Amino acid sequence: MKVQLSGVSKAFGAQHALRGIDLELDQSVQCLVLIGPSGGGKSTLLRVLGGLESPDTGTVSINGEPLAFDQASLLCHRRRNGFLFQSFNLFPHLTAVENVALPLEKVHGVVRDESVSKAQAALERFGLREHGHKRPSQLSGGQQQRVGLARAVAHEPRLLILDEPTSALDPEMTAEVLDFIDELRRGGQEIILSTHEMGFARAAADEVVFLADGKLVESGSAEQLFGDARDNNVQRFLSRVMRW
Ligand SMILES: Nc1ncnc2c1ncn2[C@@H]1O[C@H](COP(=O)(O)OP(=O)(O)O)[C@@H](O)[C@H]1O
Ligand SMILES: [Mg+2]
Repeated sequence: MKVQLSGVSKAFGAQHALRGIDLELDQSVQCLVLIGPSGGGKSTLLRVLGGLESPDTGTVSINGEPLAFDQASLLCHRRRNGFLFQSFNLFPHLTAVENVALPLEKVHGVVRDESVSKAQAALERFGLREHGHKRPSQLSGGQQQRVGLARAVAHEPRLLILDEPTSALDPEMTAEVLDFIDELRRGGQEIILSTHEMGFARAAADEVVFLADGKLVESGSAEQLFGDARDNNVQRFLSRVMRW
């Protein structure tokens, strides 16, 4: 993915979420993983990259196109991406099929019959063929997150943006969801992901970015960051979270 960030800052009142982020990625990076302590700025950076939030200062460009931050441009950019967050965010009163089909119709202008067949195909891709008629409350957390994945990729997004997609799941469900994310990655999908699953980060990332206190502390290949981090804070964080 060609991504360029320069001096990106964002504050919420007195709270500085991002403090001058610079980052440049080239086509060799297909999967970017953000790691670091809670409150470090991962979600805010994902939201800026996805067009859900505009920075206070700085520039963002994706595939060589600078992002404009007026509402119309943000909406246009947002539509090209797919999103999945930690909490399931499914409509509780809709079936799995409708949860995927409705955004295809309302956001992407797909006609009714086509939206349903695309939704069914997307659910099938994530092992949910038998579950299309169920509402979220009738599905396990892992299945709900797979419906969320189906929804996030049904319109064939340019970038798939995943914010701690497994942190509300138990280990078995975490593994099943990570397997599907890895399958998307191996299929060539460009992914930007924040996670506390360090094993997955290490295996899947072409580039890892460590954020703390709104700053990009260190970035590099998974091998470099996990094997031989330069920064003391990164080393300390990794030795703490990977200890057990
Ligand atoms: N909408 C918001 N309103 C106020 N503060 C926010 C908001 N979003 C994020 N923050 C603050 O910005 C900082 C970075 O948050 P976040 O991007 O969520 O970090 P992370 O995802 O790494 O935990 C935190 O201090 C958080 O409390
Ligand atoms: Mg977060």
